[in-house]
Amino acid sequence: MTLNTAASGQTANIDWANLGFSYIRTDLRFLAHWKDGEWDAGQLTADNTLHIAEGSTALHYGQQCFEGLKAYRAKDGSINLFRPDRNAARMQASCDRLLMPHVPTEMFVEACRQVVAANERFLPPYGTGGSLYLRPFLIGVGDNIGVRTAPEFIFSVFCVPVGPYFKGGLTPHNFITSTYDRAAPNGTGAAKVGGNYAASLLPGAAAKNTSVDGRHFADVIYLDPSTHSKIEEVGAANFFAITKDGSTFVTPKSPSILPSITKYSLLDLARDRLGLKVEEGEIRIDELDRYGEAGACGTAAVITPIGGIQHGDDFHVFHSETEVGPVTRRLYEELTGIQSGDREAPEGWIV
Ligand code: COI
Repeated sequence: MTLNTAASGQTANIDWANLGFSYIRTDLRFLAHWKDGEWDAGQLTADNTLHIAEGSTALHYGQQCFEGLKAYRAKDGSINLFRPDRNAARMQASCDRLLMPHVPTEMFVEACRQVVAANERFLPPYGTGGSLYLRPFLIGVGDNIGVRTAPEFIFSVFCVPVGPYFKGGLTPHNFITSTYDRAAPNGTGAAKVGGNYAASLLPGAAAKNTSVDGRHFADVIYLDPSTHSKIEEVGAANFFAITKDGSTFVTPKSPSILPSITKYSLLDLARDRLGLKVEEGEIRIDELDRYGEAGACGTAAVITPIGGIQHGDDFHVFHSETEVGPVTRRLYEELTGIQSGDREAPEGWIV
């Protein structure tokens, strides 16, 4: 059932090949309510606003979580959703951390399918490099004032056609370390919750406003919150590096890192398709000389090559500030080829 059919914008005005990562209102979004221990069936609605109680825990105590995944138009016209079951599982893990009810995997994936089908006209055409970004989210709502879990919840999925998160797509960007942390060692860093992103706004803005020797920075490199000696994340994305001899894909391991589905997909592809060794371990900020390439990765960032990292007075260049390294390029081609249906996907990766 569809509620309210007010029209959204015209797709004729969209420049598909030059989309950025900005909000565009699409036609319909999925909305479901949880109360007394169960979810209702949910429905699609044209209303892109929410009317919620003033005491909602999402507003006061940050009881909310979200996900990000994409749908891609394939060459044969079909539509590929990339690993939505992994997003469902990650949202369930976030729910456990913030005492919220699970959205069952089947309900999550079905909501995503419905939203993509209902907004098909907003799906960027094959070959434009664009995709339809889905934003599932879950918020605690209902009358409340104490610090406790909410009496009711809303689960919604909306979508936005997007291009690259970092300008230029597969072009190197520079990043700078921060003395701020996005998450505490035993805090909520591994959960995809708004509080981590709220904590990242100031350091992100500071990085973008900083220039050193005429260099500008796309975002922050977060170091581990306990010792500030190891790389953890890159703004809202995960980090990977390739050793100088090109043999090993390395990515940080830490309980305060968000487990990126893109990162773990790249780790599998590095091992199974590129024949690399893969390692989850420590990437010390004073040992960057060990690596010949590095990148930021995530659903939104896809792969953004890291040209160099500014840490204090030192600026470390990996492969090049302007050219993409060979392993990074192969990983990018493998991943995006699978997403757009040009390359065979490992079992279960495409819905
Ligand atoms: C994603 O890659 O989906 C993210 O969550 C990044 C987003 C916060 C822009």
